[in-house]
Amino acid sequence: MSGHGAAQPMTARRSGPLRGRAEIPGDKSISHRALILGAMAVGETRITGLLEGQDVLDTAKAMRAFGAELIQHGPGDWSVHGVGVGGFTEPAEVIDCGNSGTGVRLIMGSMATSPITATFTGDASLRKRPMGRVTDPLALFGARAYGRKGGRLPMTLVGAAEPVPVHYTVPVPSAQVKSAVLLAGLNAPGQTVVVEREATRDHSERMLRGFGAELTVEAAPEGQIITLTGQPELRPQTVAVPRDPSSAAFPVCAALIVEGSEILVPGVSRNPTRDGLYVTLLEMGADIAFENEREEGGEPVADLRVRASELKGVEVPPERAPSMIDEYPILSVVAAFADGTTIMRGVKELRVKESDRIDAMARGLEACGVRIEEDEDTLVVHGRGSVPGGATCATHLDHRIAMSFLVLGMAAEAPVAVDDGSPIETSFPIFMGLMRTLGADLSDG
Ligand code: S3P
Repeated sequence: MSGHGAAQPMTARRSGPLRGRAEIPGDKSISHRALILGAMAVGETRITGLLEGQDVLDTAKAMRAFGAELIQHGPGDWSVHGVGVGGFTEPAEVIDCGNSGTGVRLIMGSMATSPITATFTGDASLRKRPMGRVTDPLALFGARAYGRKGGRLPMTLVGAAEPVPVHYTVPVPSAQVKSAVLLAGLNAPGQTVVVEREATRDHSERMLRGFGAELTVEAAPEGQIITLTGQPELRPQTVAVPRDPSSAAFPVCAALIVEGSEILVPGVSRNPTRDGLYVTLLEMGADIAFENEREEGGEPVADLRVRASELKGVEVPPERAPSMIDEYPILSVVAAFADGTTIMRGVKELRVKESDRIDAMARGLEACGVRIEEDEDTLVVHGRGSVPGGATCATHLDHRIAMSFLVLGMAAEAPVAVDDGSPIETSFPIFMGLMRTLGADLSDG
């Protein structure tokens, strides 16, 4: 989906109390990985709860282009007949990853150590994002990348015919880079080592082990040392994709700021590499009860009972950023309704997401009457307990910016519109319907 259809403006108005149960769709990160690892295993991987957002559907299409057979049996219920590690065939067409940085970077990793060539592109947002962060380490395996200036898509990746294993220290906290290197390491002989200074989401490590790869993680003074033994035969799995905590963040935060709300969000991941938002919300005074803690799909989960709360501003430390990197936009909305100042430090990675999220949030919040401060690596929101609203916010092809401003509109004094809500389809296609069922006053246009 490199093209982008007509913009879809959407508006949120001050809403009555939100009530009910919010069933969140499957985790986006785990869904991409289930399809890619399924394609690299020999035999049939069965996936339930797959997120059928556009990002994941684009990865499914790509896996077909590399030779895997994918069958959709029903909603979220898929089979992937994999071709084995090193079994990818050369795609005949350009691989279009749409809006998805995770999709393109993980797929590049998965093909970089096979003797095939593929050309990748994406939508206007993805074509602006840096790919050098993955093609640099992939070059160490012997792959060659030819892209636009600044390492931008469209880009052709020539896989290494005789890959060598690598030892790589990831220079930015990025699960995508770590995962691309690990996926490339699958088809290199010997041991590939990835050193991560700050722990990022660990779904690739958990799932690689689940598919039968030999992978160890060691704590060392320089960070985590992840060692993968190359050329395993991956065994097909049954993957039950847990719900996405990054999507759950939107109804949870909406319930906190819409007066009188009480909702239940079942099965939210408590994986410590993903739960920084929830730690922060509790520090702000959020009334969230974690009920029925258990394991689902290999992830620790709990049912969240969330009640509208009086919140106070907090300082979010930089070391927490990797565990809540996608949640800063919605946190900055919650911060606007809190009493006092919230300081988010160490967030410069937000500048290279689907949009420059610091800039997008800062401009939209200002337009809604919220006082903010920003620098390259920091966002500060001065909360006053209420927000005037009454603006149209630009979403820059970014699903999380769109959902964040719609949540803001549910509690602001005057309606808040977004210029284009269509990117919500990439990660949380049922967002509008689900939020309306809970009582949100949302309209198209
Ligand atoms: C993801 C990693 C994060 C995150 C993205 C999903 C993943 O990106 O923002 O939405 O599935 O590995 P970075 O690795 O660039 O931080």
